Amino acid sequence: MRKPIIAGNWKMNKTAAEAEALIAELKPLVAKSKPDVVICVPYTDLWAAKAAIAGSKIRLGAENVAWADSGAFTGEISAAMLKEIGVEYVIIGHSERRTYFGETDETVNKRLKQALANGLKPIVCVGETLVEREKNKTKRILKKQVLDGFKDVTDFSDIVIAYEPVWAIGTGKTATAEDANKTIGYIRSLVKKTWGAEVAKSLRIQYGGSMKPSNAKELMAMKNIDGGLIGGAALKAQDFAAIVNYKD
Ligand code: PGA
Repeated sequence: MRKPIIAGNWKMNKTAAEAEALIAELKPLVAKSKPDVVICVPYTDLWAAKAAIAGSKIRLGAENVAWADSGAFTGEISAAMLKEIGVEYVIIGHSERRTYFGETDETVNKRLKQALANGLKPIVCVGETLVEREKNKTKRILKKQVLDGFKDVTDFSDIVIAYEPVWAIGTGKTATAEDANKTIGYIRSLVKKTWGAEVAKSLRIQYGGSMKPSNAKELMAMKNIDGGLIGGAALKAQDFAAIVNYKD
């Protein structure tokens, strides 16, 4: 009943001209795909990407959003600015934002509420580091990220969670499909306990971390995994399309 959603996270890659070229190559390759397809691109690519995806099923996403409406927040981009371009999705709390730019569960929560208030669909990232995993702290970390990150949120209908074990991002190391399924099952049980069975049943939870054409099918076959957040493999049209079309 949950429709799969495959989202690309381009990170700080591709100029606007390069974005146009990648999208032109991608469009025909995903024309018949069954999952929802999203590309989250750098702010400077958004206008060009919006024009380039016209007439396709590809949806547009940004990689972050400010928590305030407007004002003295140098370097930030507001939800209204994104909405005006036609942005639908926004990544919030990616581990790179948490590691390099001081994002916390509290800032994630503020950005999340701002996204929801403005009709943007958030893709909220959670996940443990290698040290946390080795110390057996995965559940504790995820619990804090989910409970604090989603504090005061009641409507989950537009929300997607991306479970991204930090040790698997950009490293070539993937969590085994069973492991990812189990951990995402834990996140789902946490959501069920806090927000109820209906929310838990309909909430889409992606796996992210070195997902690629060769492992997408196995990961997507797991009952708790509803999609993927794709970094490196989203930068090549053929690879991203192969993940989107994992069923074929
Ligand atoms: P990766 O990145 O696919 O390159 O591991 C995933 C992500 O950071 O969202």
